[in-house]
Amino acid sequence: MKFPQQGRSPDDILSSLKARKQDDVPWEEGRVFAYIYDAGDEAEKLLKDAFSLYLMENGLDPTSFPSCMELEKEVIGMAVDLVNGGDDATGTFTSGGTESILLSLKTTRDYYRDIRPDITEPEILMATTAHPAFHKACQYFDLKAVTVDVDDDFCAIPEAMEAAITENTILMVGSAPSYAHGAIDPITELGQIALRHQLRFHVDCCVGGMYLPFAKELGYDIPEFDLSVPGVTQLSMDFHKWGYAAKGASCILYKDRAIRRYQIFSYANWTGYAVINPGVTSTKGGGPIAACWAILNYIGREGYLRLVKASQEASAKIVDAVERIDGLEMMGKAQINMLAIRATDFNIFPVADEMKARGWFIQPQFGFANSSENMHLSVGYHNAHQVDEFVRDLAEVVAAVRAEQRDKEPFVMPDDLREFIVNSGPEVMDHLSEVLGSDGSALPGKMEEINNMLNQLPADSREMLLGEFINRLYNPDVH
Ligand SMILES: Cc1ncc(COP(=O)(O)O)c(C=O)c1O
Repeated sequence: MKFPQQGRSPDDILSSLKARKQDDVPWEEGRVFAYIYDAGDEAEKLLKDAFSLYLMENGLDPTSFPSCMELEKEVIGMAVDLVNGGDDATGTFTSGGTESILLSLKTTRDYYRDIRPDITEPEILMATTAHPAFHKACQYFDLKAVTVDVDDDFCAIPEAMEAAITENTILMVGSAPSYAHGAIDPITELGQIALRHQLRFHVDCCVGGMYLPFAKELGYDIPEFDLSVPGVTQLSMDFHKWGYAAKGASCILYKDRAIRRYQIFSYANWTGYAVINPGVTSTKGGGPIAACWAILNYIGREGYLRLVKASQEASAKIVDAVERIDGLEMMGKAQINMLAIRATDFNIFPVADEMKARGWFIQPQFGFANSSENMHLSVGYHNAHQVDEFVRDLAEVVAAVRAEQRDKEPFVMPDDLREFIVNSGPEVMDHLSEVLGSDGSALPGKMEEINNMLNQLPADSREMLLGEFINRLYNPDVH
């Protein structure tokens, strides 16, 4: 790839971009059950208009762009209201759930450095269902992640969590819900443990913050989960998930505003302007905050109740259908719109490939701890009108895949290959191109073989292989 010598016309450029999208999943049709949160054409137009209105603005400097600050303050105020933060709560608008979680852990680490300098190896306590963003934060900020097994419904077990507390524990994590199975941890019980042991307690509401309050209001059986629960000290919630905002919109909220001071990076020991950043980034595009403010005001409480009702009803239809499809079963309580489906007597991975061939995207998830391999569905408003067709196709595909597997030996990774990979470093990728159908320099087609292989490896080897794969994939063509 060479740097372009001459510029091209806007029309030419835009048509190139449109053409490039053709290989992407066709989310506009509502057939994609992950990554996409689409509240309809009018909402999308509003997001685009609001985003472009603030395309060039920089929220880094409130003295130059006070309107970005005002928009952020209002968005944080609305979030605090929704999750019952109370009068002392505050927060920061961030680029996504991961940034919110990074900030929460960095803030807590720095606070404890201040109040408990005797803790030199701080620990973060979480269940196996906690999002990898917590492990990322532990890696980035030199914290020790302590993970605890969950129950058969994939919820944290309070007694097991309490038993894992040590004198180095500074923060406990609960999920409301966790992504994989949509399981809501017992936040009330965990809150009591946090109080007893004087720990900070982060509730990860990244995917639930803009959903659970409305599901609860609609009368669904949702346990207490928010900042009003005694013991909960901080909470992450994403607007760019079930808030249907443009991507790049989340927040970290604290119940006690004083602690946020530990989050803020403030630097004046250099030759330039004073850099004061509440979040990870410095330059802060105005687009995501303006689009977020716009969508919250456009949809409003009544609108979100409607969107959540549609998602709950669509999810219930899927759960009903799965219960009637031979060979499939739901995992966990399946209370909300984040579903995990597993196979009872066949290998589920080809189902994702076959459904993709019919235009559906569902997300394969590997087996880990007490969770066997499965398919995840995040069911939103945009999927609701497609659900009848989806369950028809799912039933047909499952019947066909099961029939085909009856005459086929199941894939079992040879012990010597597993051993070889487990004991190798990233260079093992050079030897795997035949098995994987790709040496990592291009995207593979069907995922069945790759998923089967990864599923039968220990998680550490999966991490190593996938990390290497991505490192090889994202490279420019150099001629
Ligand atoms: C429960 C939970 N926490 C954190 C995250 C991370 O959010 P993001 O992808 O916006 O960084 C996700 C993403 O799906 C999530 O479901």
